Amino acid sequence: MATRALAFFGGKLVPLEDAKVGIMTHALHYGTAIFEGIRANWNEKEGKVFVFRLMEHYERFLRGCRILKIEIPYSVDDLCRITVELLQECGYQEDLYIRPLAFKSSQKVANLKLQDLDSEFALMAMPLGAYLDLQGAARCCTSSWRRMGDTMIPPSVKISGLYVNSILAKTEAVMAGFDEAIMLNQDGFVSEGTGENLFMVVEGKLVTPASSENILMGITRDTVIQLARQELGIETVERPVRRSELYLADEVFLTGTAAHLTPVGHIDNRLIGDGNVGPITRSLLHIYSEVIRGGRPKYAHWCTAVASRLVTA
Ligand SMILES: Cc1ncc(COP(=O)(O)O)c(C=O)c1O
Repeated sequence: MATRALAFFGGKLVPLEDAKVGIMTHALHYGTAIFEGIRANWNEKEGKVFVFRLMEHYERFLRGCRILKIEIPYSVDDLCRITVELLQECGYQEDLYIRPLAFKSSQKVANLKLQDLDSEFALMAMPLGAYLDLQGAARCCTSSWRRMGDTMIPPSVKISGLYVNSILAKTEAVMAGFDEAIMLNQDGFVSEGTGENLFMVVEGKLVTPASSENILMGITRDTVIQLARQELGIETVERPVRRSELYLADEVFLTGTAAHLTPVGHIDNRLIGDGNVGPITRSLLHIYSEVIRGGRPKYAHWCTAVASRLVTA
């Protein structure tokens, strides 16, 4: 299978190894960048990848750019078009992770403000199978690190510097033998995983922390809320969730573009349900897996099909 490792950088497609920045780049020092995580899912039968909810990812991306005063000369439509072009030219035929990055690119370190800095846009794609390498359901712990709040660094968009918060929590969890960390907010309510939103199943309903709990408003979270309602007739309650409620939930799962739907079997060394994948999680996972590969016509508007130019040429 022919593939090419390319990036969109400096306004054009270039070999990935040529897409480089200098060591004085502002974003490298201070995390002044916005990124996204997008998935393209390989559909063997159709011989195409299906990019999931591309527009929504770029809408969130541009919201982040507004907050960080990052100006790039591209609209959502432009960014979608550039992404399709990159994938066509790279020619990957497997599950992918797509990483757009808009960053303060000036070679200017002595500048602790967002003004007087240039911005750049870069885009890359890479093969990515399972994000959490699990045997069965995930083992999670509650992190000693609290989730950043909107009065510190806005958590509703993907600001690069904010991810030190997630990385501290994930590092601690993995070093203690867990698969993933669950972060509480400053008030001690459940916020989310380090790169995932969290749902629990209680008495046949879904419950997930509300937007007020310092969560990233996940696109997978929104997808699951819609699929649960439309396909299973299950409503989702968005409200504050206490840590101890997780221990008593019938099922818990995490959602994210990279992690898809990840069942949670243990939290803080307590069994959730019987420790395996619960029935509602299993049903949602099945539907979601079909939807993201373009397998359900009702949700075709969420998928952008891309065929490799390297194969069809
Ligand atoms: C902190 C955090 N929460 C939640 C999510 C899930 O969001 P989405 O479903 O849009 O990928 C992510 C992943 O982007 C994340 O980084």
